Amino acid sequence: MTPADAPLKARSGREFILGFEEVMDALMETSVQCNRFWTAIRESPETVPRPVYFGMCLENFHILAREPLFDGPVLAFSGNHAVRTTLNRFYAEELGHDKLLLSSLAALGLTEDEVRHSIPLPTTWALIDGLAYWSRFEPLFFAATLGILEGREVAEDAFVGAARRRQLSKGFVDPMMAHARINAVGRHGELSREVFGAIEVVTAAEQARLRELLPLFVALYDDFYTGIWHHYAAMDDGERPLPGFLRQLEVLA
Ligand SMILES: [Fe+2]
Ligand SMILES: [Fe+2]
Repeated sequence: MTPADAPLKARSGREFILGFEEVMDALMETSVQCNRFWTAIRESPETVPRPVYFGMCLENFHILAREPLFDGPVLAFSGNHAVRTTLNRFYAEELGHDKLLLSSLAALGLTEDEVRHSIPLPTTWALIDGLAYWSRFEPLFFAATLGILEGREVAEDAFVGAARRRQLSKGFVDPMMAHARINAVGRHGELSREVFGAIEVVTAAEQARLRELLPLFVALYDDFYTGIWHHYAAMDDGERPLPGFLRQLEVLA
């Protein structure tokens, strides 16, 4: 019997999250792990067009720059004090990480002002919106996604390793590497387990609801990377981003 088929009964938070992560991993294995973006980054990073690396950094910047939208609402989690303490610590540790990615983008010749005035891809917005919604209305589900978003599968490290093999400049790679290290040292990939470790019981009804939300999260996460691939792999390659790299709001006349 797979974790996805296991009959639901009330479980401890710890027991629940381990089973939940197994189901999540199985879904990711047939989507995120083998999508165009990750297949190329893993198997042939030297041939991935440079705008894909630049774009991945930019789209991640857009996410981190909107941290209050999704890491904010969950701070009011009313369930228990230990969970609130963990989430508050996490919020404080995350604050300002957009600046690290800004340094990477500055090394490409992009100014803070123009980066902040650019807009994310629709697939990036969709992930931000999903997280912001769950953070406010489904805090347990949001907490269950944190481990993956923070690199339980060491996605960030894999990406930084690929950028190094692509021989991108130190000025671009180093701040991203610093960010990956902060996640590793702060054990951010274990956040979901830490939160659920402090939750005594997850009822059968709650488990069923959380599992129902999972396919949408994995789809949004998959689309986030696939969207980066489709948009940026189609751009002309070059040492630096070319005009048109940053998306601007088109004002309708
Ligand atoms: Fe971060
Ligand atoms: Fe983090």
